[in-house]
This record gives sequence, C-alpha cells and structure tokens, in this order.
Amino acid sequence: MISTSIKSKPGGDRPLEAKNQIRHAMQQCRRGTLKLFENMEEDTFRRQVHPDFSPVGWHLGHIGFTEGLWLLERCAGKAPLFPQYRRLMAQDGLPKHQRVELPPLPEIVDYLQCIREQVFGYLDSAPMEQQETLWRFILQHECQHTETIAFLLQLQRSPRRAAGEAKCPDPLSSDREIEIPAGKCELGSDAPEALDNERSVHRQYLPAYLIDRYPVTCGEFRQFIDQEGYHTPRWWSSEGWEWRQTHQITQPLHWNDKPGFENHPVCGVSYYEAEAYARFVGKRLPTEAEWEKAASWDPQTQHKRTYPWGDEFPTGDRANLDNRQAQTTPVNAYPAGMSAYGCYDMLGNVWEWTSSWFLGYSGFQPYPYPGYSQAYFDREHRVLRGGSWTTRPWAMRCSFRNWYYPWVRQIFAGFRCARDVE
Ligand code: AVJ
Ligand code: FE
Repeated sequence: MISTSIKSKPGGDRPLEAKNQIRHAMQQCRRGTLKLFENMEEDTFRRQVHPDFSPVGWHLGHIGFTEGLWLLERCAGKAPLFPQYRRLMAQDGLPKHQRVELPPLPEIVDYLQCIREQVFGYLDSAPMEQQETLWRFILQHECQHTETIAFLLQLQRSPRRAAGEAKCPDPLSSDREIEIPAGKCELGSDAPEALDNERSVHRQYLPAYLIDRYPVTCGEFRQFIDQEGYHTPRWWSSEGWEWRQTHQITQPLHWNDKPGFENHPVCGVSYYEAEAYARFVGKRLPTEAEWEKAASWDPQTQHKRTYPWGDEFPTGDRANLDNRQAQTTPVNAYPAGMSAYGCYDMLGNVWEWTSSWFLGYSGFQPYPYPGYSQAYFDREHRVLRGGSWTTRPWAMRCSFRNWYYPWVRQIFAGFRCARDVE
C-alpha cells in the first residue's frame, strides 16, 4: 500500500519527515523497478528493440548511475563507485546501439544495490533543506526510466491479451464533453517535487472552451479507421500526412479491436494521428493549459488541486497506474479519480497529447542540469500530460509535463479532444 503524502503536519520536523518519506518512496519505487526484471531472459535484457531507444538493461544501469552521480559524487563529494560504468551508463556516453554490451543482469542489480546502500548511508546526514528537490528528482528519474522500460518490454511482447472485462456504460453519451467557463486558473507547481519545467506557479486566464470528459476510445477511433481516416489527407497536417505516407501507418501501434476494448482509450498514437482524428470529428487537441485547468482547477474553492481528486497521493482506486492492471482500462472505470470539472482519467491509463510545444515557463531555471528539460525547448517536442497505466505514482500529478517528438508512438499515448465554444 503506497501512502506518501507530500504535505507535512504543522509544527513537525519537516526535514526529518521528508527524509523518512523519501527513503520509503525510494524503496517502494525500487521494488517496482526490479519487478519488471523478474525472470527476464538475457536477450530481452540487452536487445535494442528500436533504434531510438536503448536496451531495457541499459535503463536499469542508468538509474543507478544517475543516483550515484548526483547524490554520492555531486552532493556527498565521494569518488565514483564504479568508474568503469560511467561511459556505458551516462546519458552522454556511448551511442544507443553500442549500449547492448552490458554486464549480466545480476551484476547490474548488485551495482544498483551497492549505490543504494551508500545513498541511504548518506541520507541520514544530508542537508535536506537544500537537497529535497534533488532527492525527489532522483526518485522521479527512476520512475521515468521504468516507464521507458515498460513500453520497450511491450514492444517485445505479443499483442495485448483479450479482455474479460465487465461491460461498462457507453461513454459516448450526451455528456461526452464539458464546458469550462472563461476565467483564471493556476498552472505549474512550486512544490518540492516539482521538476524544473513545472516551475513556477503562474495564473492564467483562459477563454471558455469545451473538453472531452474521457480520452478518445478504441470504439470511437474505429470510426476514423473505417471511414478511411488514414487515407484522407484533409484530416492531416501536411507534416503528419508526410509521416503517414512515409511509414504507411494504417492503425495505432497498440491497436486493439477485440470485443471488450471499445471503451478503452486508444493507445499508441503519434501526435499526428491524434491531430488528424480531432479534425475528423470537428475538434482539436487541447493546449496544455486547457488540459491542466480541466484536471486541477476547483472552481468552487478557486484553488488548484495537486491531483484531479484533491491532494491525496495517487492510489489504484483513483487511477490506472503503476503497472497494477498491466494494460489500459475503460475510460470511465475510475469515478473516484474525477476532476472538479468532471473529467475522467486525467491521470493514468494513457498519456494525452496536447497541442503545446514543450517550452519553459516564464523565468525558467534549469535544474539539476540543462540537458534534463531545456535541451528540448526546440519547438520540435509536443507536451503530453497525465501519465499512463505504467506511470509510477511519484511522477504523476496535474502539473507534470512529458514531451516527445510528434511522431513517437511507442509511449502509451492517447488523447482527448477539445474545441472552442461557438
Ligand atoms: C521526460 C520521458 C522524455 O526519458 O527521455 C530521463 C526523461 N530525462 N532521463 C526521457 C529523462 C533524463 C525523459 N522524458
Ligand atoms: Fe535519465
């Protein structure tokens, strides 16, 4: 049972409380990370399944390397524990195709354990007042790499298993979308766990708009396929159409039209496919601001919520997360996760493409290194929001921003639509 409340009680020892919380979260997180490698074959571990991504074993080693680099070398001032791994495991080390020459899995697991023991030894004396955001960054860095591991494993596996799900009410009812009235909201976060690209909190006025209550489902997307959407250039941007033609794309990567999946979100689409579908139904993708307002703003209290449902840490009864279901779930399966405006599935299930470029908010300061976010402020990466069925709860909140090139479809991404009020 995960319970890692971020808020501390007034009058408590905040740094000590933060240390205990961080230690517990890092242990919980690591357990889930290692679970992905249980009974893994050598070939699965070191195979490069896609030229844009490293083998899953590299990601595991890189998690340990990054933890040691920042917490032991940069903070504790220790010499590198395993200097021989630097070139292999560093972000800026070997090219991806050379990352297949990995030590065996048990050796990498030992490497992680060794670093972890030193890190926890250091934690007791670490100045948490100055370091909390860095420790929380390291925790979320592991979360992000386990998500990459999870989607790379999916690429190696056979298609998803058939559903044996209970029938859910058809979400294609009259309340498919919600009108968000014009007004202000708050974007971003200044919480200790907020990453550099979420900072700082700022107010924004948005004109009225309509946004879908649920992500677009497989049942709905089927219409696009059946009505020749993949062969109709007028739904596509010119860039998107060129991409579709070059790669002869005719359905989502994780397309599933087995009975029972009609109400699951479409999963494994590029930004281009999301954009084309939205145009097909006379809508558009939401901006990230529109998405975040619909997910987090409580118009009653005029306050921003950390999560759609409030400020309680994400659990399996509010969202499909942390590999618990090992697949997508119907888009209306989590009423307890609804936002104040009435949107479902804002966190978990599938990432959602937005129409926004990934750019820094005003006053952006790179942290802990420019290569984390700033290197991608190039108007070539689109923002995704919300998190997928494999996203770890420590890296999931309304202000969290993910980013990828618009053609990437290995990530577990879907979308919801929006439109202007007429
Ligand atoms: C935010 C998921 C795009 O994995 O490429 C991990 C996160 N940055 N290590 C990625 C990241 C450095 C990043 N994404
Ligand atoms: Fe990394």
